[in-house]
Amino acid sequence: MKGFAFLFLLSILILQNAFAQRENVISEESKVPEYQLPDVLTRFNGGKVSTAKDWVKKQRPDILKLFTDEVYGKVPGIQKISEVKVWETSDNAVNDLATRKQFSLFFKKGNRNLEVNVLMYLPKNAQKAPVFLAYNFTGNHTVYTDPNIRLTESWVANDPSLGIINNQVTEQSRATASNGWPIEKIIRSGYGLVTLYYGDVDPDKNDFSDGIEPFFYTKNQIKPRSNEWGSIAAWAWGLSRVMDYLEKDPDVDAKKVAVLGHSRLGKTALWAGATDQRFAMVISNESGCGGAALSKRTYGETVEIINTSFPYWFCDNFKKYNNREDLLSIDQHMLLALIAPRPLYVASAEDDKWADPRGEFLSAKYASAVYKLLGLEGLPVKEMPVVNQPVMGTIGYHIRTGKHGLTTYDWEQYIRFADKHFKEK
Ligand code: GCU
Repeated sequence: MKGFAFLFLLSILILQNAFAQRENVISEESKVPEYQLPDVLTRFNGGKVSTAKDWVKKQRPDILKLFTDEVYGKVPGIQKISEVKVWETSDNAVNDLATRKQFSLFFKKGNRNLEVNVLMYLPKNAQKAPVFLAYNFTGNHTVYTDPNIRLTESWVANDPSLGIINNQVTEQSRATASNGWPIEKIIRSGYGLVTLYYGDVDPDKNDFSDGIEPFFYTKNQIKPRSNEWGSIAAWAWGLSRVMDYLEKDPDVDAKKVAVLGHSRLGKTALWAGATDQRFAMVISNESGCGGAALSKRTYGETVEIINTSFPYWFCDNFKKYNNREDLLSIDQHMLLALIAPRPLYVASAEDDKWADPRGEFLSAKYASAVYKLLGLEGLPVKEMPVVNQPVMGTIGYHIRTGKHGLTTYDWEQYIRFADKHFKEK
């Protein structure tokens, strides 16, 4: 009983703290405190980066290392795919426009076994299809009405309204996320879709005993070290393993894989793009704090808030910057710059203040310096565009009307952006 009372009090304290933090959240432009951003083309020893070679050989590795050690955490070792098992294929999916393949990537080590289920639709009329690779939030079967999609058996956060009970999905949850996945449109535009449930790689909860992390523990270790990966880096690692598979799939154009993610999965897509240059295009949909939005601009969600609500997303070192964003020697525009010279799209939504749309735009704007150094356009505008007016250089950006979410409008812009960079060549 005592233990219960203690837990009860503790949860009240945690909740109170969370509310207190929310109250302090800045959501008015005039209230944003001044901040200073590091210049992406100034070396950490003060020198200037003036050639593409200096960027590639010196500045880029230094920035990548700082993000690895201080923000997302490093991957502690190598774990390759142990086995691929194809569950089923079909030649007449998506109203006969696509092929479907469902397969699992197995990772095995000692008595550990992790299964990652992948769903792939490819347009029938393409020889080697360019694809969008994107994690989904609640299982492959939620993205489309196709009754052949296997139900995930993995742990999923409860949501009875979506038919997720006792952390297991049910038939009722089929197609519940389909609004965010205009699959027929994607296929008709000539792209494939490769999607998987992020919880297969690491369940999204504050628990380091499950998912991929324990594969690398030494004896008695129960969580990653302070400079080792949090869940975002683990999810990004998972995307790279899917890429390992895609490189071997003869029906996929592995040189044209656009990695895309929404929100926490947008943060993940950015980190995957930064750490793995095989991704030819990176798309961040409303990724916000710890994604595209600047951290030193403390509008909306802050480093302290995210590290408190999701203490397992980043590496422990990142907590040093709770309320001390000024101590960071990097900021998120430098993460975006790591994607260069590859096309990058950053998207915001007007009502998604939590993710700081302006901070997302500014980040894309300041990353452009690196694209320019590499002879590319970067973002084609200097001022933030008005709503529903996408701009597309080598960096694309839009802020659409509406709230936080991945919508058909967003996808339409990503398809146009992919057409521009993958097809007009
Ligand atoms: C929370 C979190 C955000 C995150 C979002 C999401 O709102 O604070 O950082 O992006 O969840 O993933 O939907």
